Formats: sequence, C-alpha cells, structure tokens
Amino acid sequence: MVDQEAGKTPNLALIGAGIFVRSQYVPRLREVAHLLSLKLIWSRTEEAAKAIVPLVKDFAPNAEAKWGTDGLKEILQDDSIHGVAVVVAGQVQVELTLQAIKAGKHVLQEKPASSNVLEALEALNIYKSIHASKTPAPIWAVAENYRFEVGLMQAARLVKEVGDIMAVEMIAEAPMNSSNPYFGSEWRRNFQGGFTVDVGVHFIAGLRMMVGSEIVSVAAISRHVDLSLPGPDNMSALLKLENGCPGVFVMSISATSRKISWRVVGAKGTVEAERGTQDGQHGYLVTFLPSAGVPQSSFYPFCGVHEELTAFATDMANVTFKGMSASKVDSRSSPLEGATDVAVVEAMLRSSSQNGAWENVQPIK
Ligand SMILES: *[C@@H]1O[C@H](CO)[C@@H](O)[C@H](O)[C@H]1NC(C)=O
Ligand SMILES: *[C@@H]1O[C@H](CO)[C@@H](O)[C@H](O)[C@H]1NC(C)=O
Ligand SMILES: *[C@@H]1O[C@H](CO)[C@@H](O)[C@H](O)[C@H]1NC(C)=O
Repeated sequence: MVDQEAGKTPNLALIGAGIFVRSQYVPRLREVAHLLSLKLIWSRTEEAAKAIVPLVKDFAPNAEAKWGTDGLKEILQDDSIHGVAVVVAGQVQVELTLQAIKAGKHVLQEKPASSNVLEALEALNIYKSIHASKTPAPIWAVAENYRFEVGLMQAARLVKEVGDIMAVEMIAEAPMNSSNPYFGSEWRRNFQGGFTVDVGVHFIAGLRMMVGSEIVSVAAISRHVDLSLPGPDNMSALLKLENGCPGVFVMSISATSRKISWRVVGAKGTVEAERGTQDGQHGYLVTFLPSAGVPQSSFYPFCGVHEELTAFATDMANVTFKGMSASKVDSRSSPLEGATDVAVVEAMLRSSSQNGAWENVQPIK
C-alpha cells in the first residue's frame, strides 16, 4: 500500500552485486517494486555495479550505478535514500551495516548476522546507542529468509499441537560441489567456519523457529572430508533445548545426496518439514502425523525472500512516513535472532575443536 500522505514508497540503495543479488534480490525486488523504489546499485567495482543496472531497468528505470569508496559515501550522504540492502561478503557486512546506520539509513543486512558472536555483540552495543540517540531510529534488520518461509511457519504452528516434545532432528545433506553457483565464492572460502557457518545458520534458524525453544548447549564433532571445500564440511551435534528436550543436528555439505528436513516428535504426534519440489516449484512439504487419525501433508512453495523484503519495505515506510518506532518492526528480522543462529553454530565449532565437549550457546541480548 502506497503511503497516502507522502504519496511515495521508500527509496532503496542496493549494496552488492554478487550471485545472491543476481539470483534473488533482482527478481524479488521486482515483485515488491510497488512497495520499494530501487534507486542506486553499488559495488566495489564500476563494472560489477553497472552490470546489474540493465537487469532492473524494467522495474527501476532510473536506477543508477555507484562504485568504490566515493560511490558509497555519496549514497550514505544522499538524503533521498531511506534505506539500504547490504548484500556483500560476510566479512564486511557488519562494518558496512554500521556505517549506513550511523548515516541514518534503515538497513536490511543479509545473513549471516556476523562472522562470530563477538562481532555481533559489539555491533549490537553500537546499534543500541544509535537507536537511543537518533529520531526516528534507523532499522537494523537481518535477512534470514527461513524465518519467513510459510511452510516452516506452518510447521511451527503444528508443533504447538503435539504436546510434550520428545525428540528433534534436523538433517541437511547438501552437495556443495563445483556445480553449485556458490562453490567458487571467494569470501565464503575465506570465512571463519566456511560454508558450515554460512549455510548452517539457515538450518538452525529453521530449527529454532519450528521447535519454539532455544538451544542452550551442544556437543559436536565436525570433520573436514572434501578438501576442495574449506573445512569443516561435515558436522553432527547433540543439542540440549531449553525445554529439556534433546535434539540432533546432522549437516553434510560434501554429500552426494540431497535432503533437508526438520522433524519434531511429540507426545501427541510428529511434525516434519522437508524440502522438495511439486509441480516444478521448490518448497517445503509439511506433514503432520497425529497420534490417531490420518497423516496430513501440504506443500508450500518458497517465498521467504519475497516475504522478508515485503516486511522490510512495510516497516521502513511505517517508520519513515508514519512515525512508527523502529522497535515495532518485524521481530523475525531482529539482529538478536540472526546472532543467536551464529552463536549456535559457533558453539558447535567450539565443541568439535574440543573433541565433542559440551559447550553452552552464548545468549544474545
Ligand atoms: C560427510 O558426512 C556424511 C554424514 O554426515 C557422510 O555420509 C559422508 O560420507 C561424509 N562425507 C564424506 C565425503 O565422507
Ligand atoms: C554435484 O552434486 C550433484 C548432486 O549429487 C550432482 O548431480 C552433480 O553432478 C555434482 N557435480 C559434480 C561436478 O560433481
Ligand atoms: C504499517 O503499514 C502497514 C501497511 O501500510 C499497515 O497495515 C500497518 O498497520 C502499519 N503498522 C503500523 C504500526 O503503523
């Protein structure tokens, strides 16, 4: 809905021009073009920034390329830009995000929320002080599309009906080989924890949302098997949840098979969400197996990135044009949530470096 007073939608600058921008941001921003006006596209290099412009011409006819340090400065000083989407290498995302927030921009930052928990905690402290001193306070949203998948949200609703939870399983077998577009991604290869952190936070986000109880401690063993990938590429963990329930998390990114599923076993039934395809669409098959009666399954096509962009656009319009407080924004994009996902994977890596000793997950507040 276009704001009537201002008669316009918030203006966005897109910071980044990598694989995820091309494959997800461009098509999804096209879908929400009625909520958000894409004005500027930035990359480190002129070439990369200019390469995105023709891809968005149909829905952002006036979008311009900006590049390098000067280009970034221009964007941050441009009062007509209300918000930025930060979709760059994991190592520099938090730094760029804080720069933009200090300049008063609303930020949607891609996951992972940070490279590690320490970086997240420092950034959260800085954000809190900016939040207290600027009116309106800028939004800091971390884009974790799994929290916006309607299939996983439906699974979370069903879990509330299965009574006491007795077991939780998350299994991810995903071939990260040279056929995968991210295989050659330089920053992911040099990222602390490699693909395990970058991919693992998604699965942990799904698990936390579906179970509705936090993971308090973990005991994990990881291995580095496929030497064409940065290690570790295989990790299995035992989880202790706040509700007392145990769980398991098994992730192999050097698998040759494909399976991504969450399963919650309760006293009154079992809920499963598994990635699959139906009628050519990718999505989640959500199955409810009640203790008595017939199993029910429904398929939910992927929509997480679309939904998270819609939420950010709406929140940004409400804060910018309608005086809504930035603390009222969609909590699924809270940096506290994103940092908690990182904290869980980090605890697993810590545990595995100590041969599977129990490690507490650092609480993020
Ligand atoms: C990685 O771990 C999975 C199980 O988690 C295992 O099936 C697979 O064999 C391991 N990868 C390799 C290449 O051994
Ligand atoms: C990567 O894994 C997928 C799924 O197992 C397979 O179809 C594909 O051929 C593999 N590519 C390479 C280069 O091994
Ligand atoms: C934010 O905007 C949406 C859409 O315009 C509206 O439905 C919602 O009520 C607004 N929320 C607040 C708190 O203003």
